[in-house]
Amino acid sequence: MQHVGQQVRLGGWVHRRRDLGGIVFIDLRDRAGIVQIAIGPTAPEDVRRVAGGLTSETVVEVAGQVTARPANMKNPELATGDVEVQATLLSVVGPAVTPAIPVARGKGDELPAEELRLKHRHLDLRRPEMQANLILSHRLLQRARRALSDLEFLEIETPILTKPTPEGARDYLVPSRVHPGEFYALPQSPQIYKQLLMVAGFDRYFQIARCFRDEDLRNDRQPEFTQIDLEASFVGMDDVLGYVEAVLVALWDEGGHRIARPFPRIAWRDALEHYGTDKPDLRYDLSIADWTAHVKPLGVPFFQAALRDGARVRGLAVKGGGALSRKDADELAETAKQLGGAGLAWVKRQGEQISGSVGKHFTPDALAALGVGDGDAALMTVGPDRVTSPVLDRVRLGVIQRLRTQPKRAHAFTWVVDFPLFEPDPETGKPVFAHHPFTSPHPDDLARLDSDPFSCRALHYDAVYNGNELGSGSIRITDAAVQRRVFAHLGLSPEEADARFGFLLTGLQAGAPPHGGFAIGFDRVVMLLAGAGSLRDVIAFPKTTAARALFEGAPAPANPADLATLHIEVKR
Ligand code: AMO
Repeated sequence: MQHVGQQVRLGGWVHRRRDLGGIVFIDLRDRAGIVQIAIGPTAPEDVRRVAGGLTSETVVEVAGQVTARPANMKNPELATGDVEVQATLLSVVGPAVTPAIPVARGKGDELPAEELRLKHRHLDLRRPEMQANLILSHRLLQRARRALSDLEFLEIETPILTKPTPEGARDYLVPSRVHPGEFYALPQSPQIYKQLLMVAGFDRYFQIARCFRDEDLRNDRQPEFTQIDLEASFVGMDDVLGYVEAVLVALWDEGGHRIARPFPRIAWRDALEHYGTDKPDLRYDLSIADWTAHVKPLGVPFFQAALRDGARVRGLAVKGGGALSRKDADELAETAKQLGGAGLAWVKRQGEQISGSVGKHFTPDALAALGVGDGDAALMTVGPDRVTSPVLDRVRLGVIQRLRTQPKRAHAFTWVVDFPLFEPDPETGKPVFAHHPFTSPHPDDLARLDSDPFSCRALHYDAVYNGNELGSGSIRITDAAVQRRVFAHLGLSPEEADARFGFLLTGLQAGAPPHGGFAIGFDRVVMLLAGAGSLRDVIAFPKTTAARALFEGAPAPANPADLATLHIEVKR
């Protein structure tokens, strides 16, 4: 309202045009929002003529006076809904063909299919929701830069044409023209370079780093994405977690949320035991219990064979679970089977009545011992932990969703610590690194590195928020001899280790300070703070889950002459 009476010049897109006979209203849109332009009977003749022919998404320039709208014409849903501009000049500066997908939507209008939106990204990005997401992304980036700069971190860029940095995905390779048969890799992360910056003495580094990973894509994974990457020297785990908390608290503050520090910590083993996952959603208290000792004496056939093999029965005591229908239980059991589990046994208690797939084996007292009272349910499964954990994770989230359980807290941050250093390769059983091979073994476990590698914990930590992995990091190996031993466990001969990681090993021998760091998945942060369902809604030009850029049409076949220059022949 403070602009009423002012003369203004505006430029923007025709969002909507309404012709009420004597008067035309245009909703003019730019990145700041929408303002109503009124062209009434007293407007100049040429303005009325231009207004009469305007079509959606045309770019216009307008001049006129800001006036207050009559009380019955105010629009409380618009920031500018109390005013309008009486146009005295109006010109088309960017004519537009009929848009392939609509930008303006009425209440309740469905969005066009995502594939269409990605194909016509220039139009999709005009939607106020997408504009808000990218504006939020900008603000969060600036805030992260400021927070790290205030903590005396230096922003240093590392190369995009690099030597492979293993982070568990495939590399995108770039052929060298001048060195036939040789390739650069696009970085999966700046990991080795940031460690070399520590060796070089830059003691606090950060970078808003583009990373490239050729891996299976999901809603929270893109082949290229951005990390807030940091590394510091002469630090231990507590220092690094402190820096990362400071950045996350600043980012959530920018998103309008106050978050308390320090974040709670949970050991990896406990996260799997109680929530079945290393990224537990701790907004809800529902947790997994070991019921083996309770259930064994009941002689339930569903469990007996597995129990004889030494498996455990684990389950969830669901308060109010009596509200779960038979259909819910069947669907959850089906999910359990799809994940390779034995299925799901369930019991419900309503008053004295006990029902469910294994209900007849339970008395009220037996259920009470599991923490299952009147109106509650018990859902349980049996088998090796590596199978029952993911099953119970999914069942837990499925139950929460079906019962529409109210979260105990809106923002549940947690650190997951004490990860294992190695995991068994699912096919060969041989050790593969759980994160990346530069993570320091836990000093208390170092003596077992050769004799019992799977029992070694790592100085690795993840930041988890409401069930999402936001980022991860570790204290690094700084002793070249230990680094060589870890490479050996991963099956690399000393020669291979030198060929692939010689530049790191050389650095570690040249006076390496103790150091550690972290990388926050920036796009995930924006997605969560924007309340978006996919990274594609917060990245300007994302790829599909089939790793295609539909708007620009990438990847695309290369010109044969270019391939020849790169010494490449394509075999079909
Ligand atoms: P990590 O591989 O765990 O660690 O990656 C850190 C964070 O980056 C995000 N992220 C992704 N986001 C979108 N699309 C992807 N494909 C994708 N992959 C990962 C996640 C993840 O938690 N160098 C180490 C960090 C370190 O040790 O300092 C690293 O890259 O949010």
